[in-house]
Amino acid sequence: MVLQLTPIDRAKFAAARRAVDLVEDGMKLGLGTGSTAAWMVRALAERVREENLRLTCVATSRRTAELGREVGLKILPLDEAGWLDLTIDGTDEFDTDLTLIKGGGGALLMEKIVATASDRMVVITDASKEVKTLGHFPLPVEVIPFGWQASRMLIEELLNAMDVMGTNATLRMNGERPFVTDEGNHILDLSLGRIGNPRQLSLALNQVPGVVENGLFIDICDAVVIGYADGRVEFRDLTEGTIENERIVFEETDNIFRDL
Ligand code: 5RP
Repeated sequence: MVLQLTPIDRAKFAAARRAVDLVEDGMKLGLGTGSTAAWMVRALAERVREENLRLTCVATSRRTAELGREVGLKILPLDEAGWLDLTIDGTDEFDTDLTLIKGGGGALLMEKIVATASDRMVVITDASKEVKTLGHFPLPVEVIPFGWQASRMLIEELLNAMDVMGTNATLRMNGERPFVTDEGNHILDLSLGRIGNPRQLSLALNQVPGVVENGLFIDICDAVVIGYADGRVEFRDLTEGTIENERIVFEETDNIFRDL
């Protein structure tokens, strides 16, 4: 079954499968959002079934909460679960410092809250998302619906003073209507080309009235698991300063596809 997936999905699956090995019995876990995170949720549920693990999970979106419950995971709100041991999530871009752009799936606000309420954040990805300089992927910024056009004007104005290549902010749409996040907000996608100083940009964006949060994750992510279509995985741990290379054997993990 794995071999029928696209190469990108095989890579995402391999990364997700490796990251789930980090989970230990009794842990409190943050579950990310997106297609890579969805593989992780399924692989995690398989480990829970096979090893009778007792886990408490917090989802970073309604979508992930639904999937988690569907596959039998115990999902609690963050405030009931308390501080988390580990969050595993996908990303849209990452650089060598493990600064991330997230929010392509529209869940950046809960993702950032959950990741920062965890001892450790591990990102799972395919290799195409690694960049030297962030900014090729449009930076998502969550804004409240009231006065979003004024917020957009202020953002475009502040971008003129930042170390970026573009200043265009586009309202994310869902068909004919503005996209609405789980918290009832909108998303502006900033086409920046390159982000010379992510820290300065992140601080400046969050000062704009109406901005709830931006998709730059700075000093939050501790490690990355990069998957490849042939099952190879590279596990780069920034905190430990280690890099491990391994291979996932796809045949052994076929179970998780039975209800797809
Ligand atoms: C959702 C996210 C996702 O983690 C990001 O968009 C990556 O998605 P995918 O795993 O589907 O490529 O930030 O808000």
